[in-house]
Amino acid sequence: MRYIFITGSSKGLGKAFAELFLDQEQTKVFGISRTCSIDHENYVHHHVDLNNSDDLYNFTFPQLQNAEEVILINNAGLLNPIKKVGAFSAEALSINIQVNLIAPMVLCNTFINTYQELSAKKLIVNISSGAGKYPIDGWSAYCTSKSGLDMFSTVMQAEQNLISYVFKRVKVISISPGIIDTDMQAEIRRSNVDDFSQVNRFVDYKKSGDLQSSVQTAGKIISKLHTFYTRDEVICSLRDE
Ligand SMILES: NC(=O)c1ccc[n+]([C@@H]2O[C@H](COP(=O)([O-])OP(=O)(O)OC[C@H]3O[C@@H](n4cnc5c(N)ncnc54)[C@H](OP(=O)(O)O)[C@@H]3O)[C@@H](O)[C@H]2O)c1
Repeated sequence: MRYIFITGSSKGLGKAFAELFLDQEQTKVFGISRTCSIDHENYVHHHVDLNNSDDLYNFTFPQLQNAEEVILINNAGLLNPIKKVGAFSAEALSINIQVNLIAPMVLCNTFINTYQELSAKKLIVNISSGAGKYPIDGWSAYCTSKSGLDMFSTVMQAEQNLISYVFKRVKVISISPGIIDTDMQAEIRRSNVDDFSQVNRFVDYKKSGDLQSSVQTAGKIISKLHTFYTRDEVICSLRDE
């Protein structure tokens, strides 16, 4: 049996992941987000606000029957605040770092604590962004959160590589999915040029049909999952696949 845990499973990329996995046999999906939009016999939803510390700290991964593979996809994320430093609220900054960085760190910690000894293939896929690799004005919180997620993933993998019994190791990937036609992109296009100088470039991406669909993106990543176990690098981009 395959067990997949996906944060942000209510819409966008996370929902596409969940629905594509649910099409596969012997696969149970656990979704984690504030709202639920999937009804399927092999789907279990956990109503969790990743910005709420009680929700996050109390989340536990279940004991699993006949597990052959267990995957955690840290996908939930938000872009806000789209504002230059000096113009955003402390609260907006805090929510961004909590949901995009602290929450995946906490869930990775709980996942490894729960499943390290489980004799099954174990994979963590952190959904990162090109924005974690280069500076984008107006996106300082988002860029910082994704850069932090890349580093956290790299350190986690280095720790796992120290485990001499290879079958106990968890494999970690931090992948940039490219630009996807979701609510997050709509939010970018609605932003103000004074807050984000490149807004018109993103308006043009949509007009020119340069955005991938969530299903295309999730499908490409799922088709690569088996290759992740044997690769050395942690940080990767779907564009290079
Ligand atoms: N779209 C792009 O072009 C793009 C590009 C590069 C990277 N990414 C990354 O891809 C991932 C998915 O993005 P997307 O475009 O699919 O975004 P989206 O359509 O805006 O969906 C975001 C998801 O995150 C969940 N979420 C947000 N805040 C949450 C909270 N406090 N607690 C629990 N869940 C929360 C939402 O669920 P609820 O509202 O139901 O809680 C929703 O399911 C993100 O990590 C994003 O950074 C996206």
